[in-house]
Amino acid sequence: MKNRLFHILILIIFLQSCKEDQTTKTLYLAHNMPQTHSVHKGILEFQKALRLKSGGKLDVKIFPDGQLGSEREVLELLQIGSVAITKVSAATLSNFVPEYHVFGIPYLFENKQHQFDILEGDVGKSILEKGSQFWLRGLCYYDAGSRNFYTSKKAIRTPEDLKGLKIRVMNNQMAINMINSMGGSATPLAFGELYTAMQQGVVDGAENNSPSFVSSNHYEVSNYYTIDQHSSIPDVLLIGTKFWNTLSDEEKQWIQAAADSSAQAQKKFWNASVEESMAIAKAAGVEVITPEKSLFQERSKSVLEQFQKAHPEMQSLINSIKK
Ligand code: GCU
Repeated sequence: MKNRLFHILILIIFLQSCKEDQTTKTLYLAHNMPQTHSVHKGILEFQKALRLKSGGKLDVKIFPDGQLGSEREVLELLQIGSVAITKVSAATLSNFVPEYHVFGIPYLFENKQHQFDILEGDVGKSILEKGSQFWLRGLCYYDAGSRNFYTSKKAIRTPEDLKGLKIRVMNNQMAINMINSMGGSATPLAFGELYTAMQQGVVDGAENNSPSFVSSNHYEVSNYYTIDQHSSIPDVLLIGTKFWNTLSDEEKQWIQAAADSSAQAQKKFWNASVEESMAIAKAAGVEVITPEKSLFQERSKSVLEQFQKAHPEMQSLINSIKK
């Protein structure tokens, strides 16, 4: 892994030395989603808005598809200032900035309105700012819907069906606890490695929102998609504090304003892509299952209790979301 990071760093240094136009500052932005995903479309809006607002003084070079590494690796590149911006799941980010853990609590939000009232209100904003202590300043949230199970051989209709199944999760303790509490066997793996892992039977299934399930082609190696909506973990657009500190106040304002308008655009792309992706999966023969959600909810209650015991310092944050 160190070797890989070293090669990526060399590539970045090479690309930076190739920049021709010295009057334009180019920000490197890396993320792990395919270019058909609404996150990428939201990021294109960010690029467009930033060019416009800065009158061409700031530009963005986008590296999609995990070209510069996994979410974890790119966050490390942000911390050392080699990459300026990234978009990651709040679940990955919580390994760096603990407050983001709360977004992984199963069935935390009552609905999307509740979720975005929190994310775009004081609570969400204060968490974005918390990241600065860890060299990772949050800019805005992107919609990442709700996560659902998908499996290759055995359909998940009740939590009992998870028994004995290896389910890929993000590298995140709350996600691991949740799958195990429901009776499955959680297997953390990078997103980019999942297609092959499913194809080769290294894991029996995974969990994700439907646009990620489809745009990553995971539906090609799955037969069942179970909409239990166990968690609604947002995505976060972030800028490395090292890079942020080199910017003028005006440049910072352009970047924040471009991020804000990209967040609104991404939500629209997202809504359209949820239906589109379900239609693609169904047409490919994936059976879509709508189970009794309360059964999954009941089994995952212990995850919150476990988290509250381990992190009493997070209780007031949880209360401010739940009330
Ligand atoms: C979601 C999220 C990604 C994350 C992925 C995963 O799709 O938007 O940022 O990488 O889940 O399961 O790894």
